[in-house]
Amino acid sequence: MSKTHFFDSYALLGRNKPAIFNTIHLMEKEAVGADIEYFEIDFAQPEKIPQLIEGVMKRFCNISCLLNIAGYTDPRSLLSTSLESFEYTYKVNVYSPFMLIKECTRHMKNSGGKIVNVASTAGMGPRPGWLSYASSKAAVISMSQTLTAELAEYGIKIYCVSPGRCATKLRKRLAPEEDPATIMQPKDVAEVICKLVAPEEQCLDGQNIVIRKQV
Ligand SMILES: NC(=O)c1ccc[n+]([C@@H]2O[C@H](COP(=O)([O-])OP(=O)(O)OC[C@H]3O[C@@H](n4cnc5c(N)ncnc54)[C@H](OP(=O)(O)O)[C@@H]3O)[C@@H](O)[C@H]2O)c1
Repeated sequence: MSKTHFFDSYALLGRNKPAIFNTIHLMEKEAVGADIEYFEIDFAQPEKIPQLIEGVMKRFCNISCLLNIAGYTDPRSLLSTSLESFEYTYKVNVYSPFMLIKECTRHMKNSGGKIVNVASTAGMGPRPGWLSYASSKAAVISMSQTLTAELAEYGIKIYCVSPGRCATKLRKRLAPEEDPATIMQPKDVAEVICKLVAPEEQCLDGQNIVIRKQV
């Protein structure tokens, strides 16, 4: 496995306290001595992100890498998709990454850094029945490409990864009948992200990097 810890400190952002504390526990074994802190946020409330990032800065004084990983799906056909569900999906999948990138860039623009956005192969072509999710991921791919060019002058690299089918809770909502053992596992995606944030990686920004297990 690639080296998984390149930093002295980590801020974990999310709403699920027990799950995040479990992650912190696992990270403490891997990144011995790292300073790790949990910051509570519901990404359905992107307007709270400026205050959140202020809190991160107060605690750590610096931000050099941002991973936008959280995602939501409510797979429905057009006529059964409510405005509320469409908006919720966009708040979590698009507006929150937008606000996180914007607020982190304020602090990264003097010293550079890396941003990784998790999109999806669902955002790369038609996915009947998954309108809100697929279109939100297409927006993430586009936003990443635009910002790669826009933020290059600050030494900020933007990476976009688009995983295919991966055995997680979210995939279970999209394909409830599928056997998770037959598809890509989360560690396969995590390993690619580790390679992207590694200091030696300098050339893969600005692309939509597809991560897919061929079966
Ligand atoms: N699994 C796949 O096949 C696949 C394929 C392509 C792309 N992706 C993308 O990969 C990323 C990770 O998803 P996953 O597959 O690992 O699914 P997952 O296990 O369901 O993880 C989704 C994460 O997003 C968090 N989240 C969702 N809504 C949130 C909210 N309102 N506020 C704060 N956190 C929220 C969840 O936290 P809670 O515990 O609080 O819900 C959870 O930690 C997502 O962006 C997803 O779209 C997944």
